[in-house]
Amino acid sequence: MELNEIEHKNFVKKKFDLIVKKYDLVNLIGSLGQDYLWRKKVALVLKKTPTPILDLCCGPFTLSLALLKERPCPIFALDFSLEMLFYGKTKLSEKEKYFIYPVCADAEILPFKSETFGTLSIAFGLRNLSNKEKALEEFYRVLKPEGVLAILEFSLPKVFIFKKIYLFYLTKYLPLLGKLLTGDKEAYQYLAESIQKFPPPEELKKTLLKIGFKEVIYEYFTLGIVTFYLAIKGKS
Ligand SMILES: C[S@@+](CC[C@H](N)C(=O)[O-])C[C@H]1O[C@@H](n2cnc3c(N)ncnc32)[C@H](O)[C@@H]1O
Repeated sequence: MELNEIEHKNFVKKKFDLIVKKYDLVNLIGSLGQDYLWRKKVALVLKKTPTPILDLCCGPFTLSLALLKERPCPIFALDFSLEMLFYGKTKLSEKEKYFIYPVCADAEILPFKSETFGTLSIAFGLRNLSNKEKALEEFYRVLKPEGVLAILEFSLPKVFIFKKIYLFYLTKYLPLLGKLLTGDKEAYQYLAESIQKFPPPEELKKTLLKIGFKEVIYEYFTLGIVTFYLAIKGKS
């Protein structure tokens, strides 16, 4: 059944609200620890990019904390799930609380003035947004000239045999693991579907260039199951 934008948003929010406390654990087990390395690589690339930083679809601050580890500077961490933000706060040390500013809002309608942020990051969030192009335009709007947008997102492996194995893992094994750990199989079936529907890297690159980003590069991680994109806004 096709959902409209509002229904899709409510569905996504409900699903993430339900798995909050087990979110990091399923990531760790499901990716065999790779997810930690993916976020670390992103954090290293963003070590010297312009500030302030806005981490979109931050969940329980998973990427925000990886970024903070590499550079102690204020990070605005935005998610529309209050449950995620509340749970994320319980993970923070006193020092980390000083640097992370949680914002509860919709990533598709950002509550910020144009040209506010030097760097925007979004890890495993873009796939969940109802209108991806509109959201990317919104990201472009709040970035300062020469600002940087970093996107980490799932993709499908290029090598045929590995793609087959991965699709089996994604559609059969992961929903079972998710059910076992969180009690919600549907959330992980949704994950598998959303990965398959997400545009391939070359297509996303074209969309980013169309929106106005001056330079877009991407790199595959772990045989292409994840792609890291870096888009730079031109001087205005
Ligand atoms: C897969 S989690 C990613 C969490 C984190 N970035 C990470 O690195 O693991 C996706 C997050 O996006 C949030 N989200 C989905 N749609 C959103 C929207 N329209 N606005 C804000 N947050 C959204 C969900 O609540 C969830 O916490």
